Amino acid sequence: MASMTYKDLQVLYTREQIAARVAEIGAEITRDLNGEKLVMVGVLKGAAPFLADLARAVQVDATFDFVAVSSYGKGQRSSGAVKVIKDLDESVEGKNVLIVEDILDTGLTLSYLRKIILQHRPRSLRIAALLDKPSRRIEKIEADYVGFSIPNLFVIGYGMDYAERYRNLPDICIMSPDHPE
Ligand code: IMP
Repeated sequence: MASMTYKDLQVLYTREQIAARVAEIGAEITRDLNGEKLVMVGVLKGAAPFLADLARAVQVDATFDFVAVSSYGKGQRSSGAVKVIKDLDESVEGKNVLIVEDILDTGLTLSYLRKIILQHRPRSLRIAALLDKPSRRIEKIEADYVGFSIPNLFVIGYGMDYAERYRNLPDICIMSPDHPE
């Protein structure tokens, strides 16, 4: 793979650090659910690896659903607009819902998703975000479970992309603005 520039990228969190933190969050979620069932709603595509790992770290009776929203387009800049491209498959009315997201950045995506999922009247609604960039927030929203709080960096790997690439990197890496791609 001649174009794979992984060697030039700076690792922010290793796969071991991610796994350890995901295990901790899974234990917290298990405790908070107190034996009740859970619907894990992954936000495509970035949250897929986090959801897969988190699902195996919770000891609860869980099902999966997925939503997709329009997001960053091809570059590092947000368009600001959020719209649902793929809605929930099943009704979440009366259920415990956990939205699973890769990054809580401006908060536009999760504020919007929270609003539309709440319209379905779930029993409870919580948010798990692997990464949080509090300094970037536009909408007032916090996740119930946060993997790592980070400064204003653009990151890739473990599901997160730059123009759809790098999602399969096992570690979370920093993409500098002058990276050759
Ligand atoms: P928000 O609506 O601004 O909170 O953006 C959330 C979405 O933006 C995330 O789910 C990611 O898809 C994307 N995003 C935000 N920051 C980054 C980043 O550093 N790397 C890759 N994607 C990002």
